Amino acid sequence: MELMHSLHFKRSTTAFCLFGLAAVALAQRADVPYVPTPLKVVEAMLDAGRVTAADYLVDLGSGDGRVVIEAVKQRGARGTGIELDPNLVATANAEAAREGIAAKAKFVSGNLFAFDFKDATVITMYLLPHINLDLRPRILNSLRPGTRIVSHDFDMGKWRPDLRREIAVPEKSYGPPVSQVYLWYVPALAAGQWQWRMPAGDAGGSFQATLRQTFQQLSGDLMIDGGAAAIQDVKLQGDAIELTAVREAGGRKHTYEFSGRIEGDKIAGRVRTGDDKTFEWLATRSARGQMSIE
Ligand SMILES: C[S@@+](CC[C@H](N)C(=O)[O-])C[C@H]1O[C@@H](n2cnc3c(N)ncnc32)[C@H](O)[C@@H]1O
Repeated sequence: MELMHSLHFKRSTTAFCLFGLAAVALAQRADVPYVPTPLKVVEAMLDAGRVTAADYLVDLGSGDGRVVIEAVKQRGARGTGIELDPNLVATANAEAAREGIAAKAKFVSGNLFAFDFKDATVITMYLLPHINLDLRPRILNSLRPGTRIVSHDFDMGKWRPDLRREIAVPEKSYGPPVSQVYLWYVPALAAGQWQWRMPAGDAGGSFQATLRQTFQQLSGDLMIDGGAAAIQDVKLQGDAIELTAVREAGGRKHTYEFSGRIEGDKIAGRVRTGDDKTFEWLATRSARGQMSIE
């Protein structure tokens, strides 16, 4: 009886060990090791992203939860952290409960590549350059224009940041004693053919613009009443667009400073002419272009 019991125990122990090894082999390997962002840099990230109580922040690979926890405590935001390591998820949830903010700071176990973050208004990350690049198409395709993306130390390749700050961190545990904080705004689709009219008069006419777009960078061609004009200083931040048009006519130079917001295939805003008059700007897109993101 004793012998049988011991044989049974040995068999179940072997089976348990084999099961454990298989589970380890199947378990998802972290794409990035756990290294916490120094709190000073967390604060700089929240500043860069201008995080407020109106925001829903998602930290991709949330570690001990500090970015979400500080966003809730300092700014009154809501947040979720997605993290592969269940021990770190438990630590983060316990800390949120200890701080009394568990209703607004939540941490879930899982792979960040499978997490649906489309409702976020701010995404934070401290990952690696190639992971940022893998995430880039999803960020650009699934998030609303104007969503802020804040990354500690690693950029997004050819997608140039809208802001970059360097922070001295003498206590940093590895590498040079500085951290980089990058900010991007998810750009609206501005590419395509747009047209609008300006009220009759000296500066009036029919405008036709073709805008080309690589990430948030825009360039374009402009015709006014069928004649070539120039587009200068085009800026796109989220859905906010600004451009200056210059037209030479009758030996005079006319300038127009347009600013507005893109909503679908419409732009609504204002234009200021060289003689300091302002008018409404209402443009419609007749053909969509493509945002180049390679
Ligand atoms: C460098 S740490 C950053 C932690 C935290 N965001 C911070 O800034 O303090 C990266 C974290 O991502 C987690 N991680 C790595 N690969 C992941 C994946 N595919 N899905 C979810 N989390 C992942 C790691 O376990 C680690 O905790």
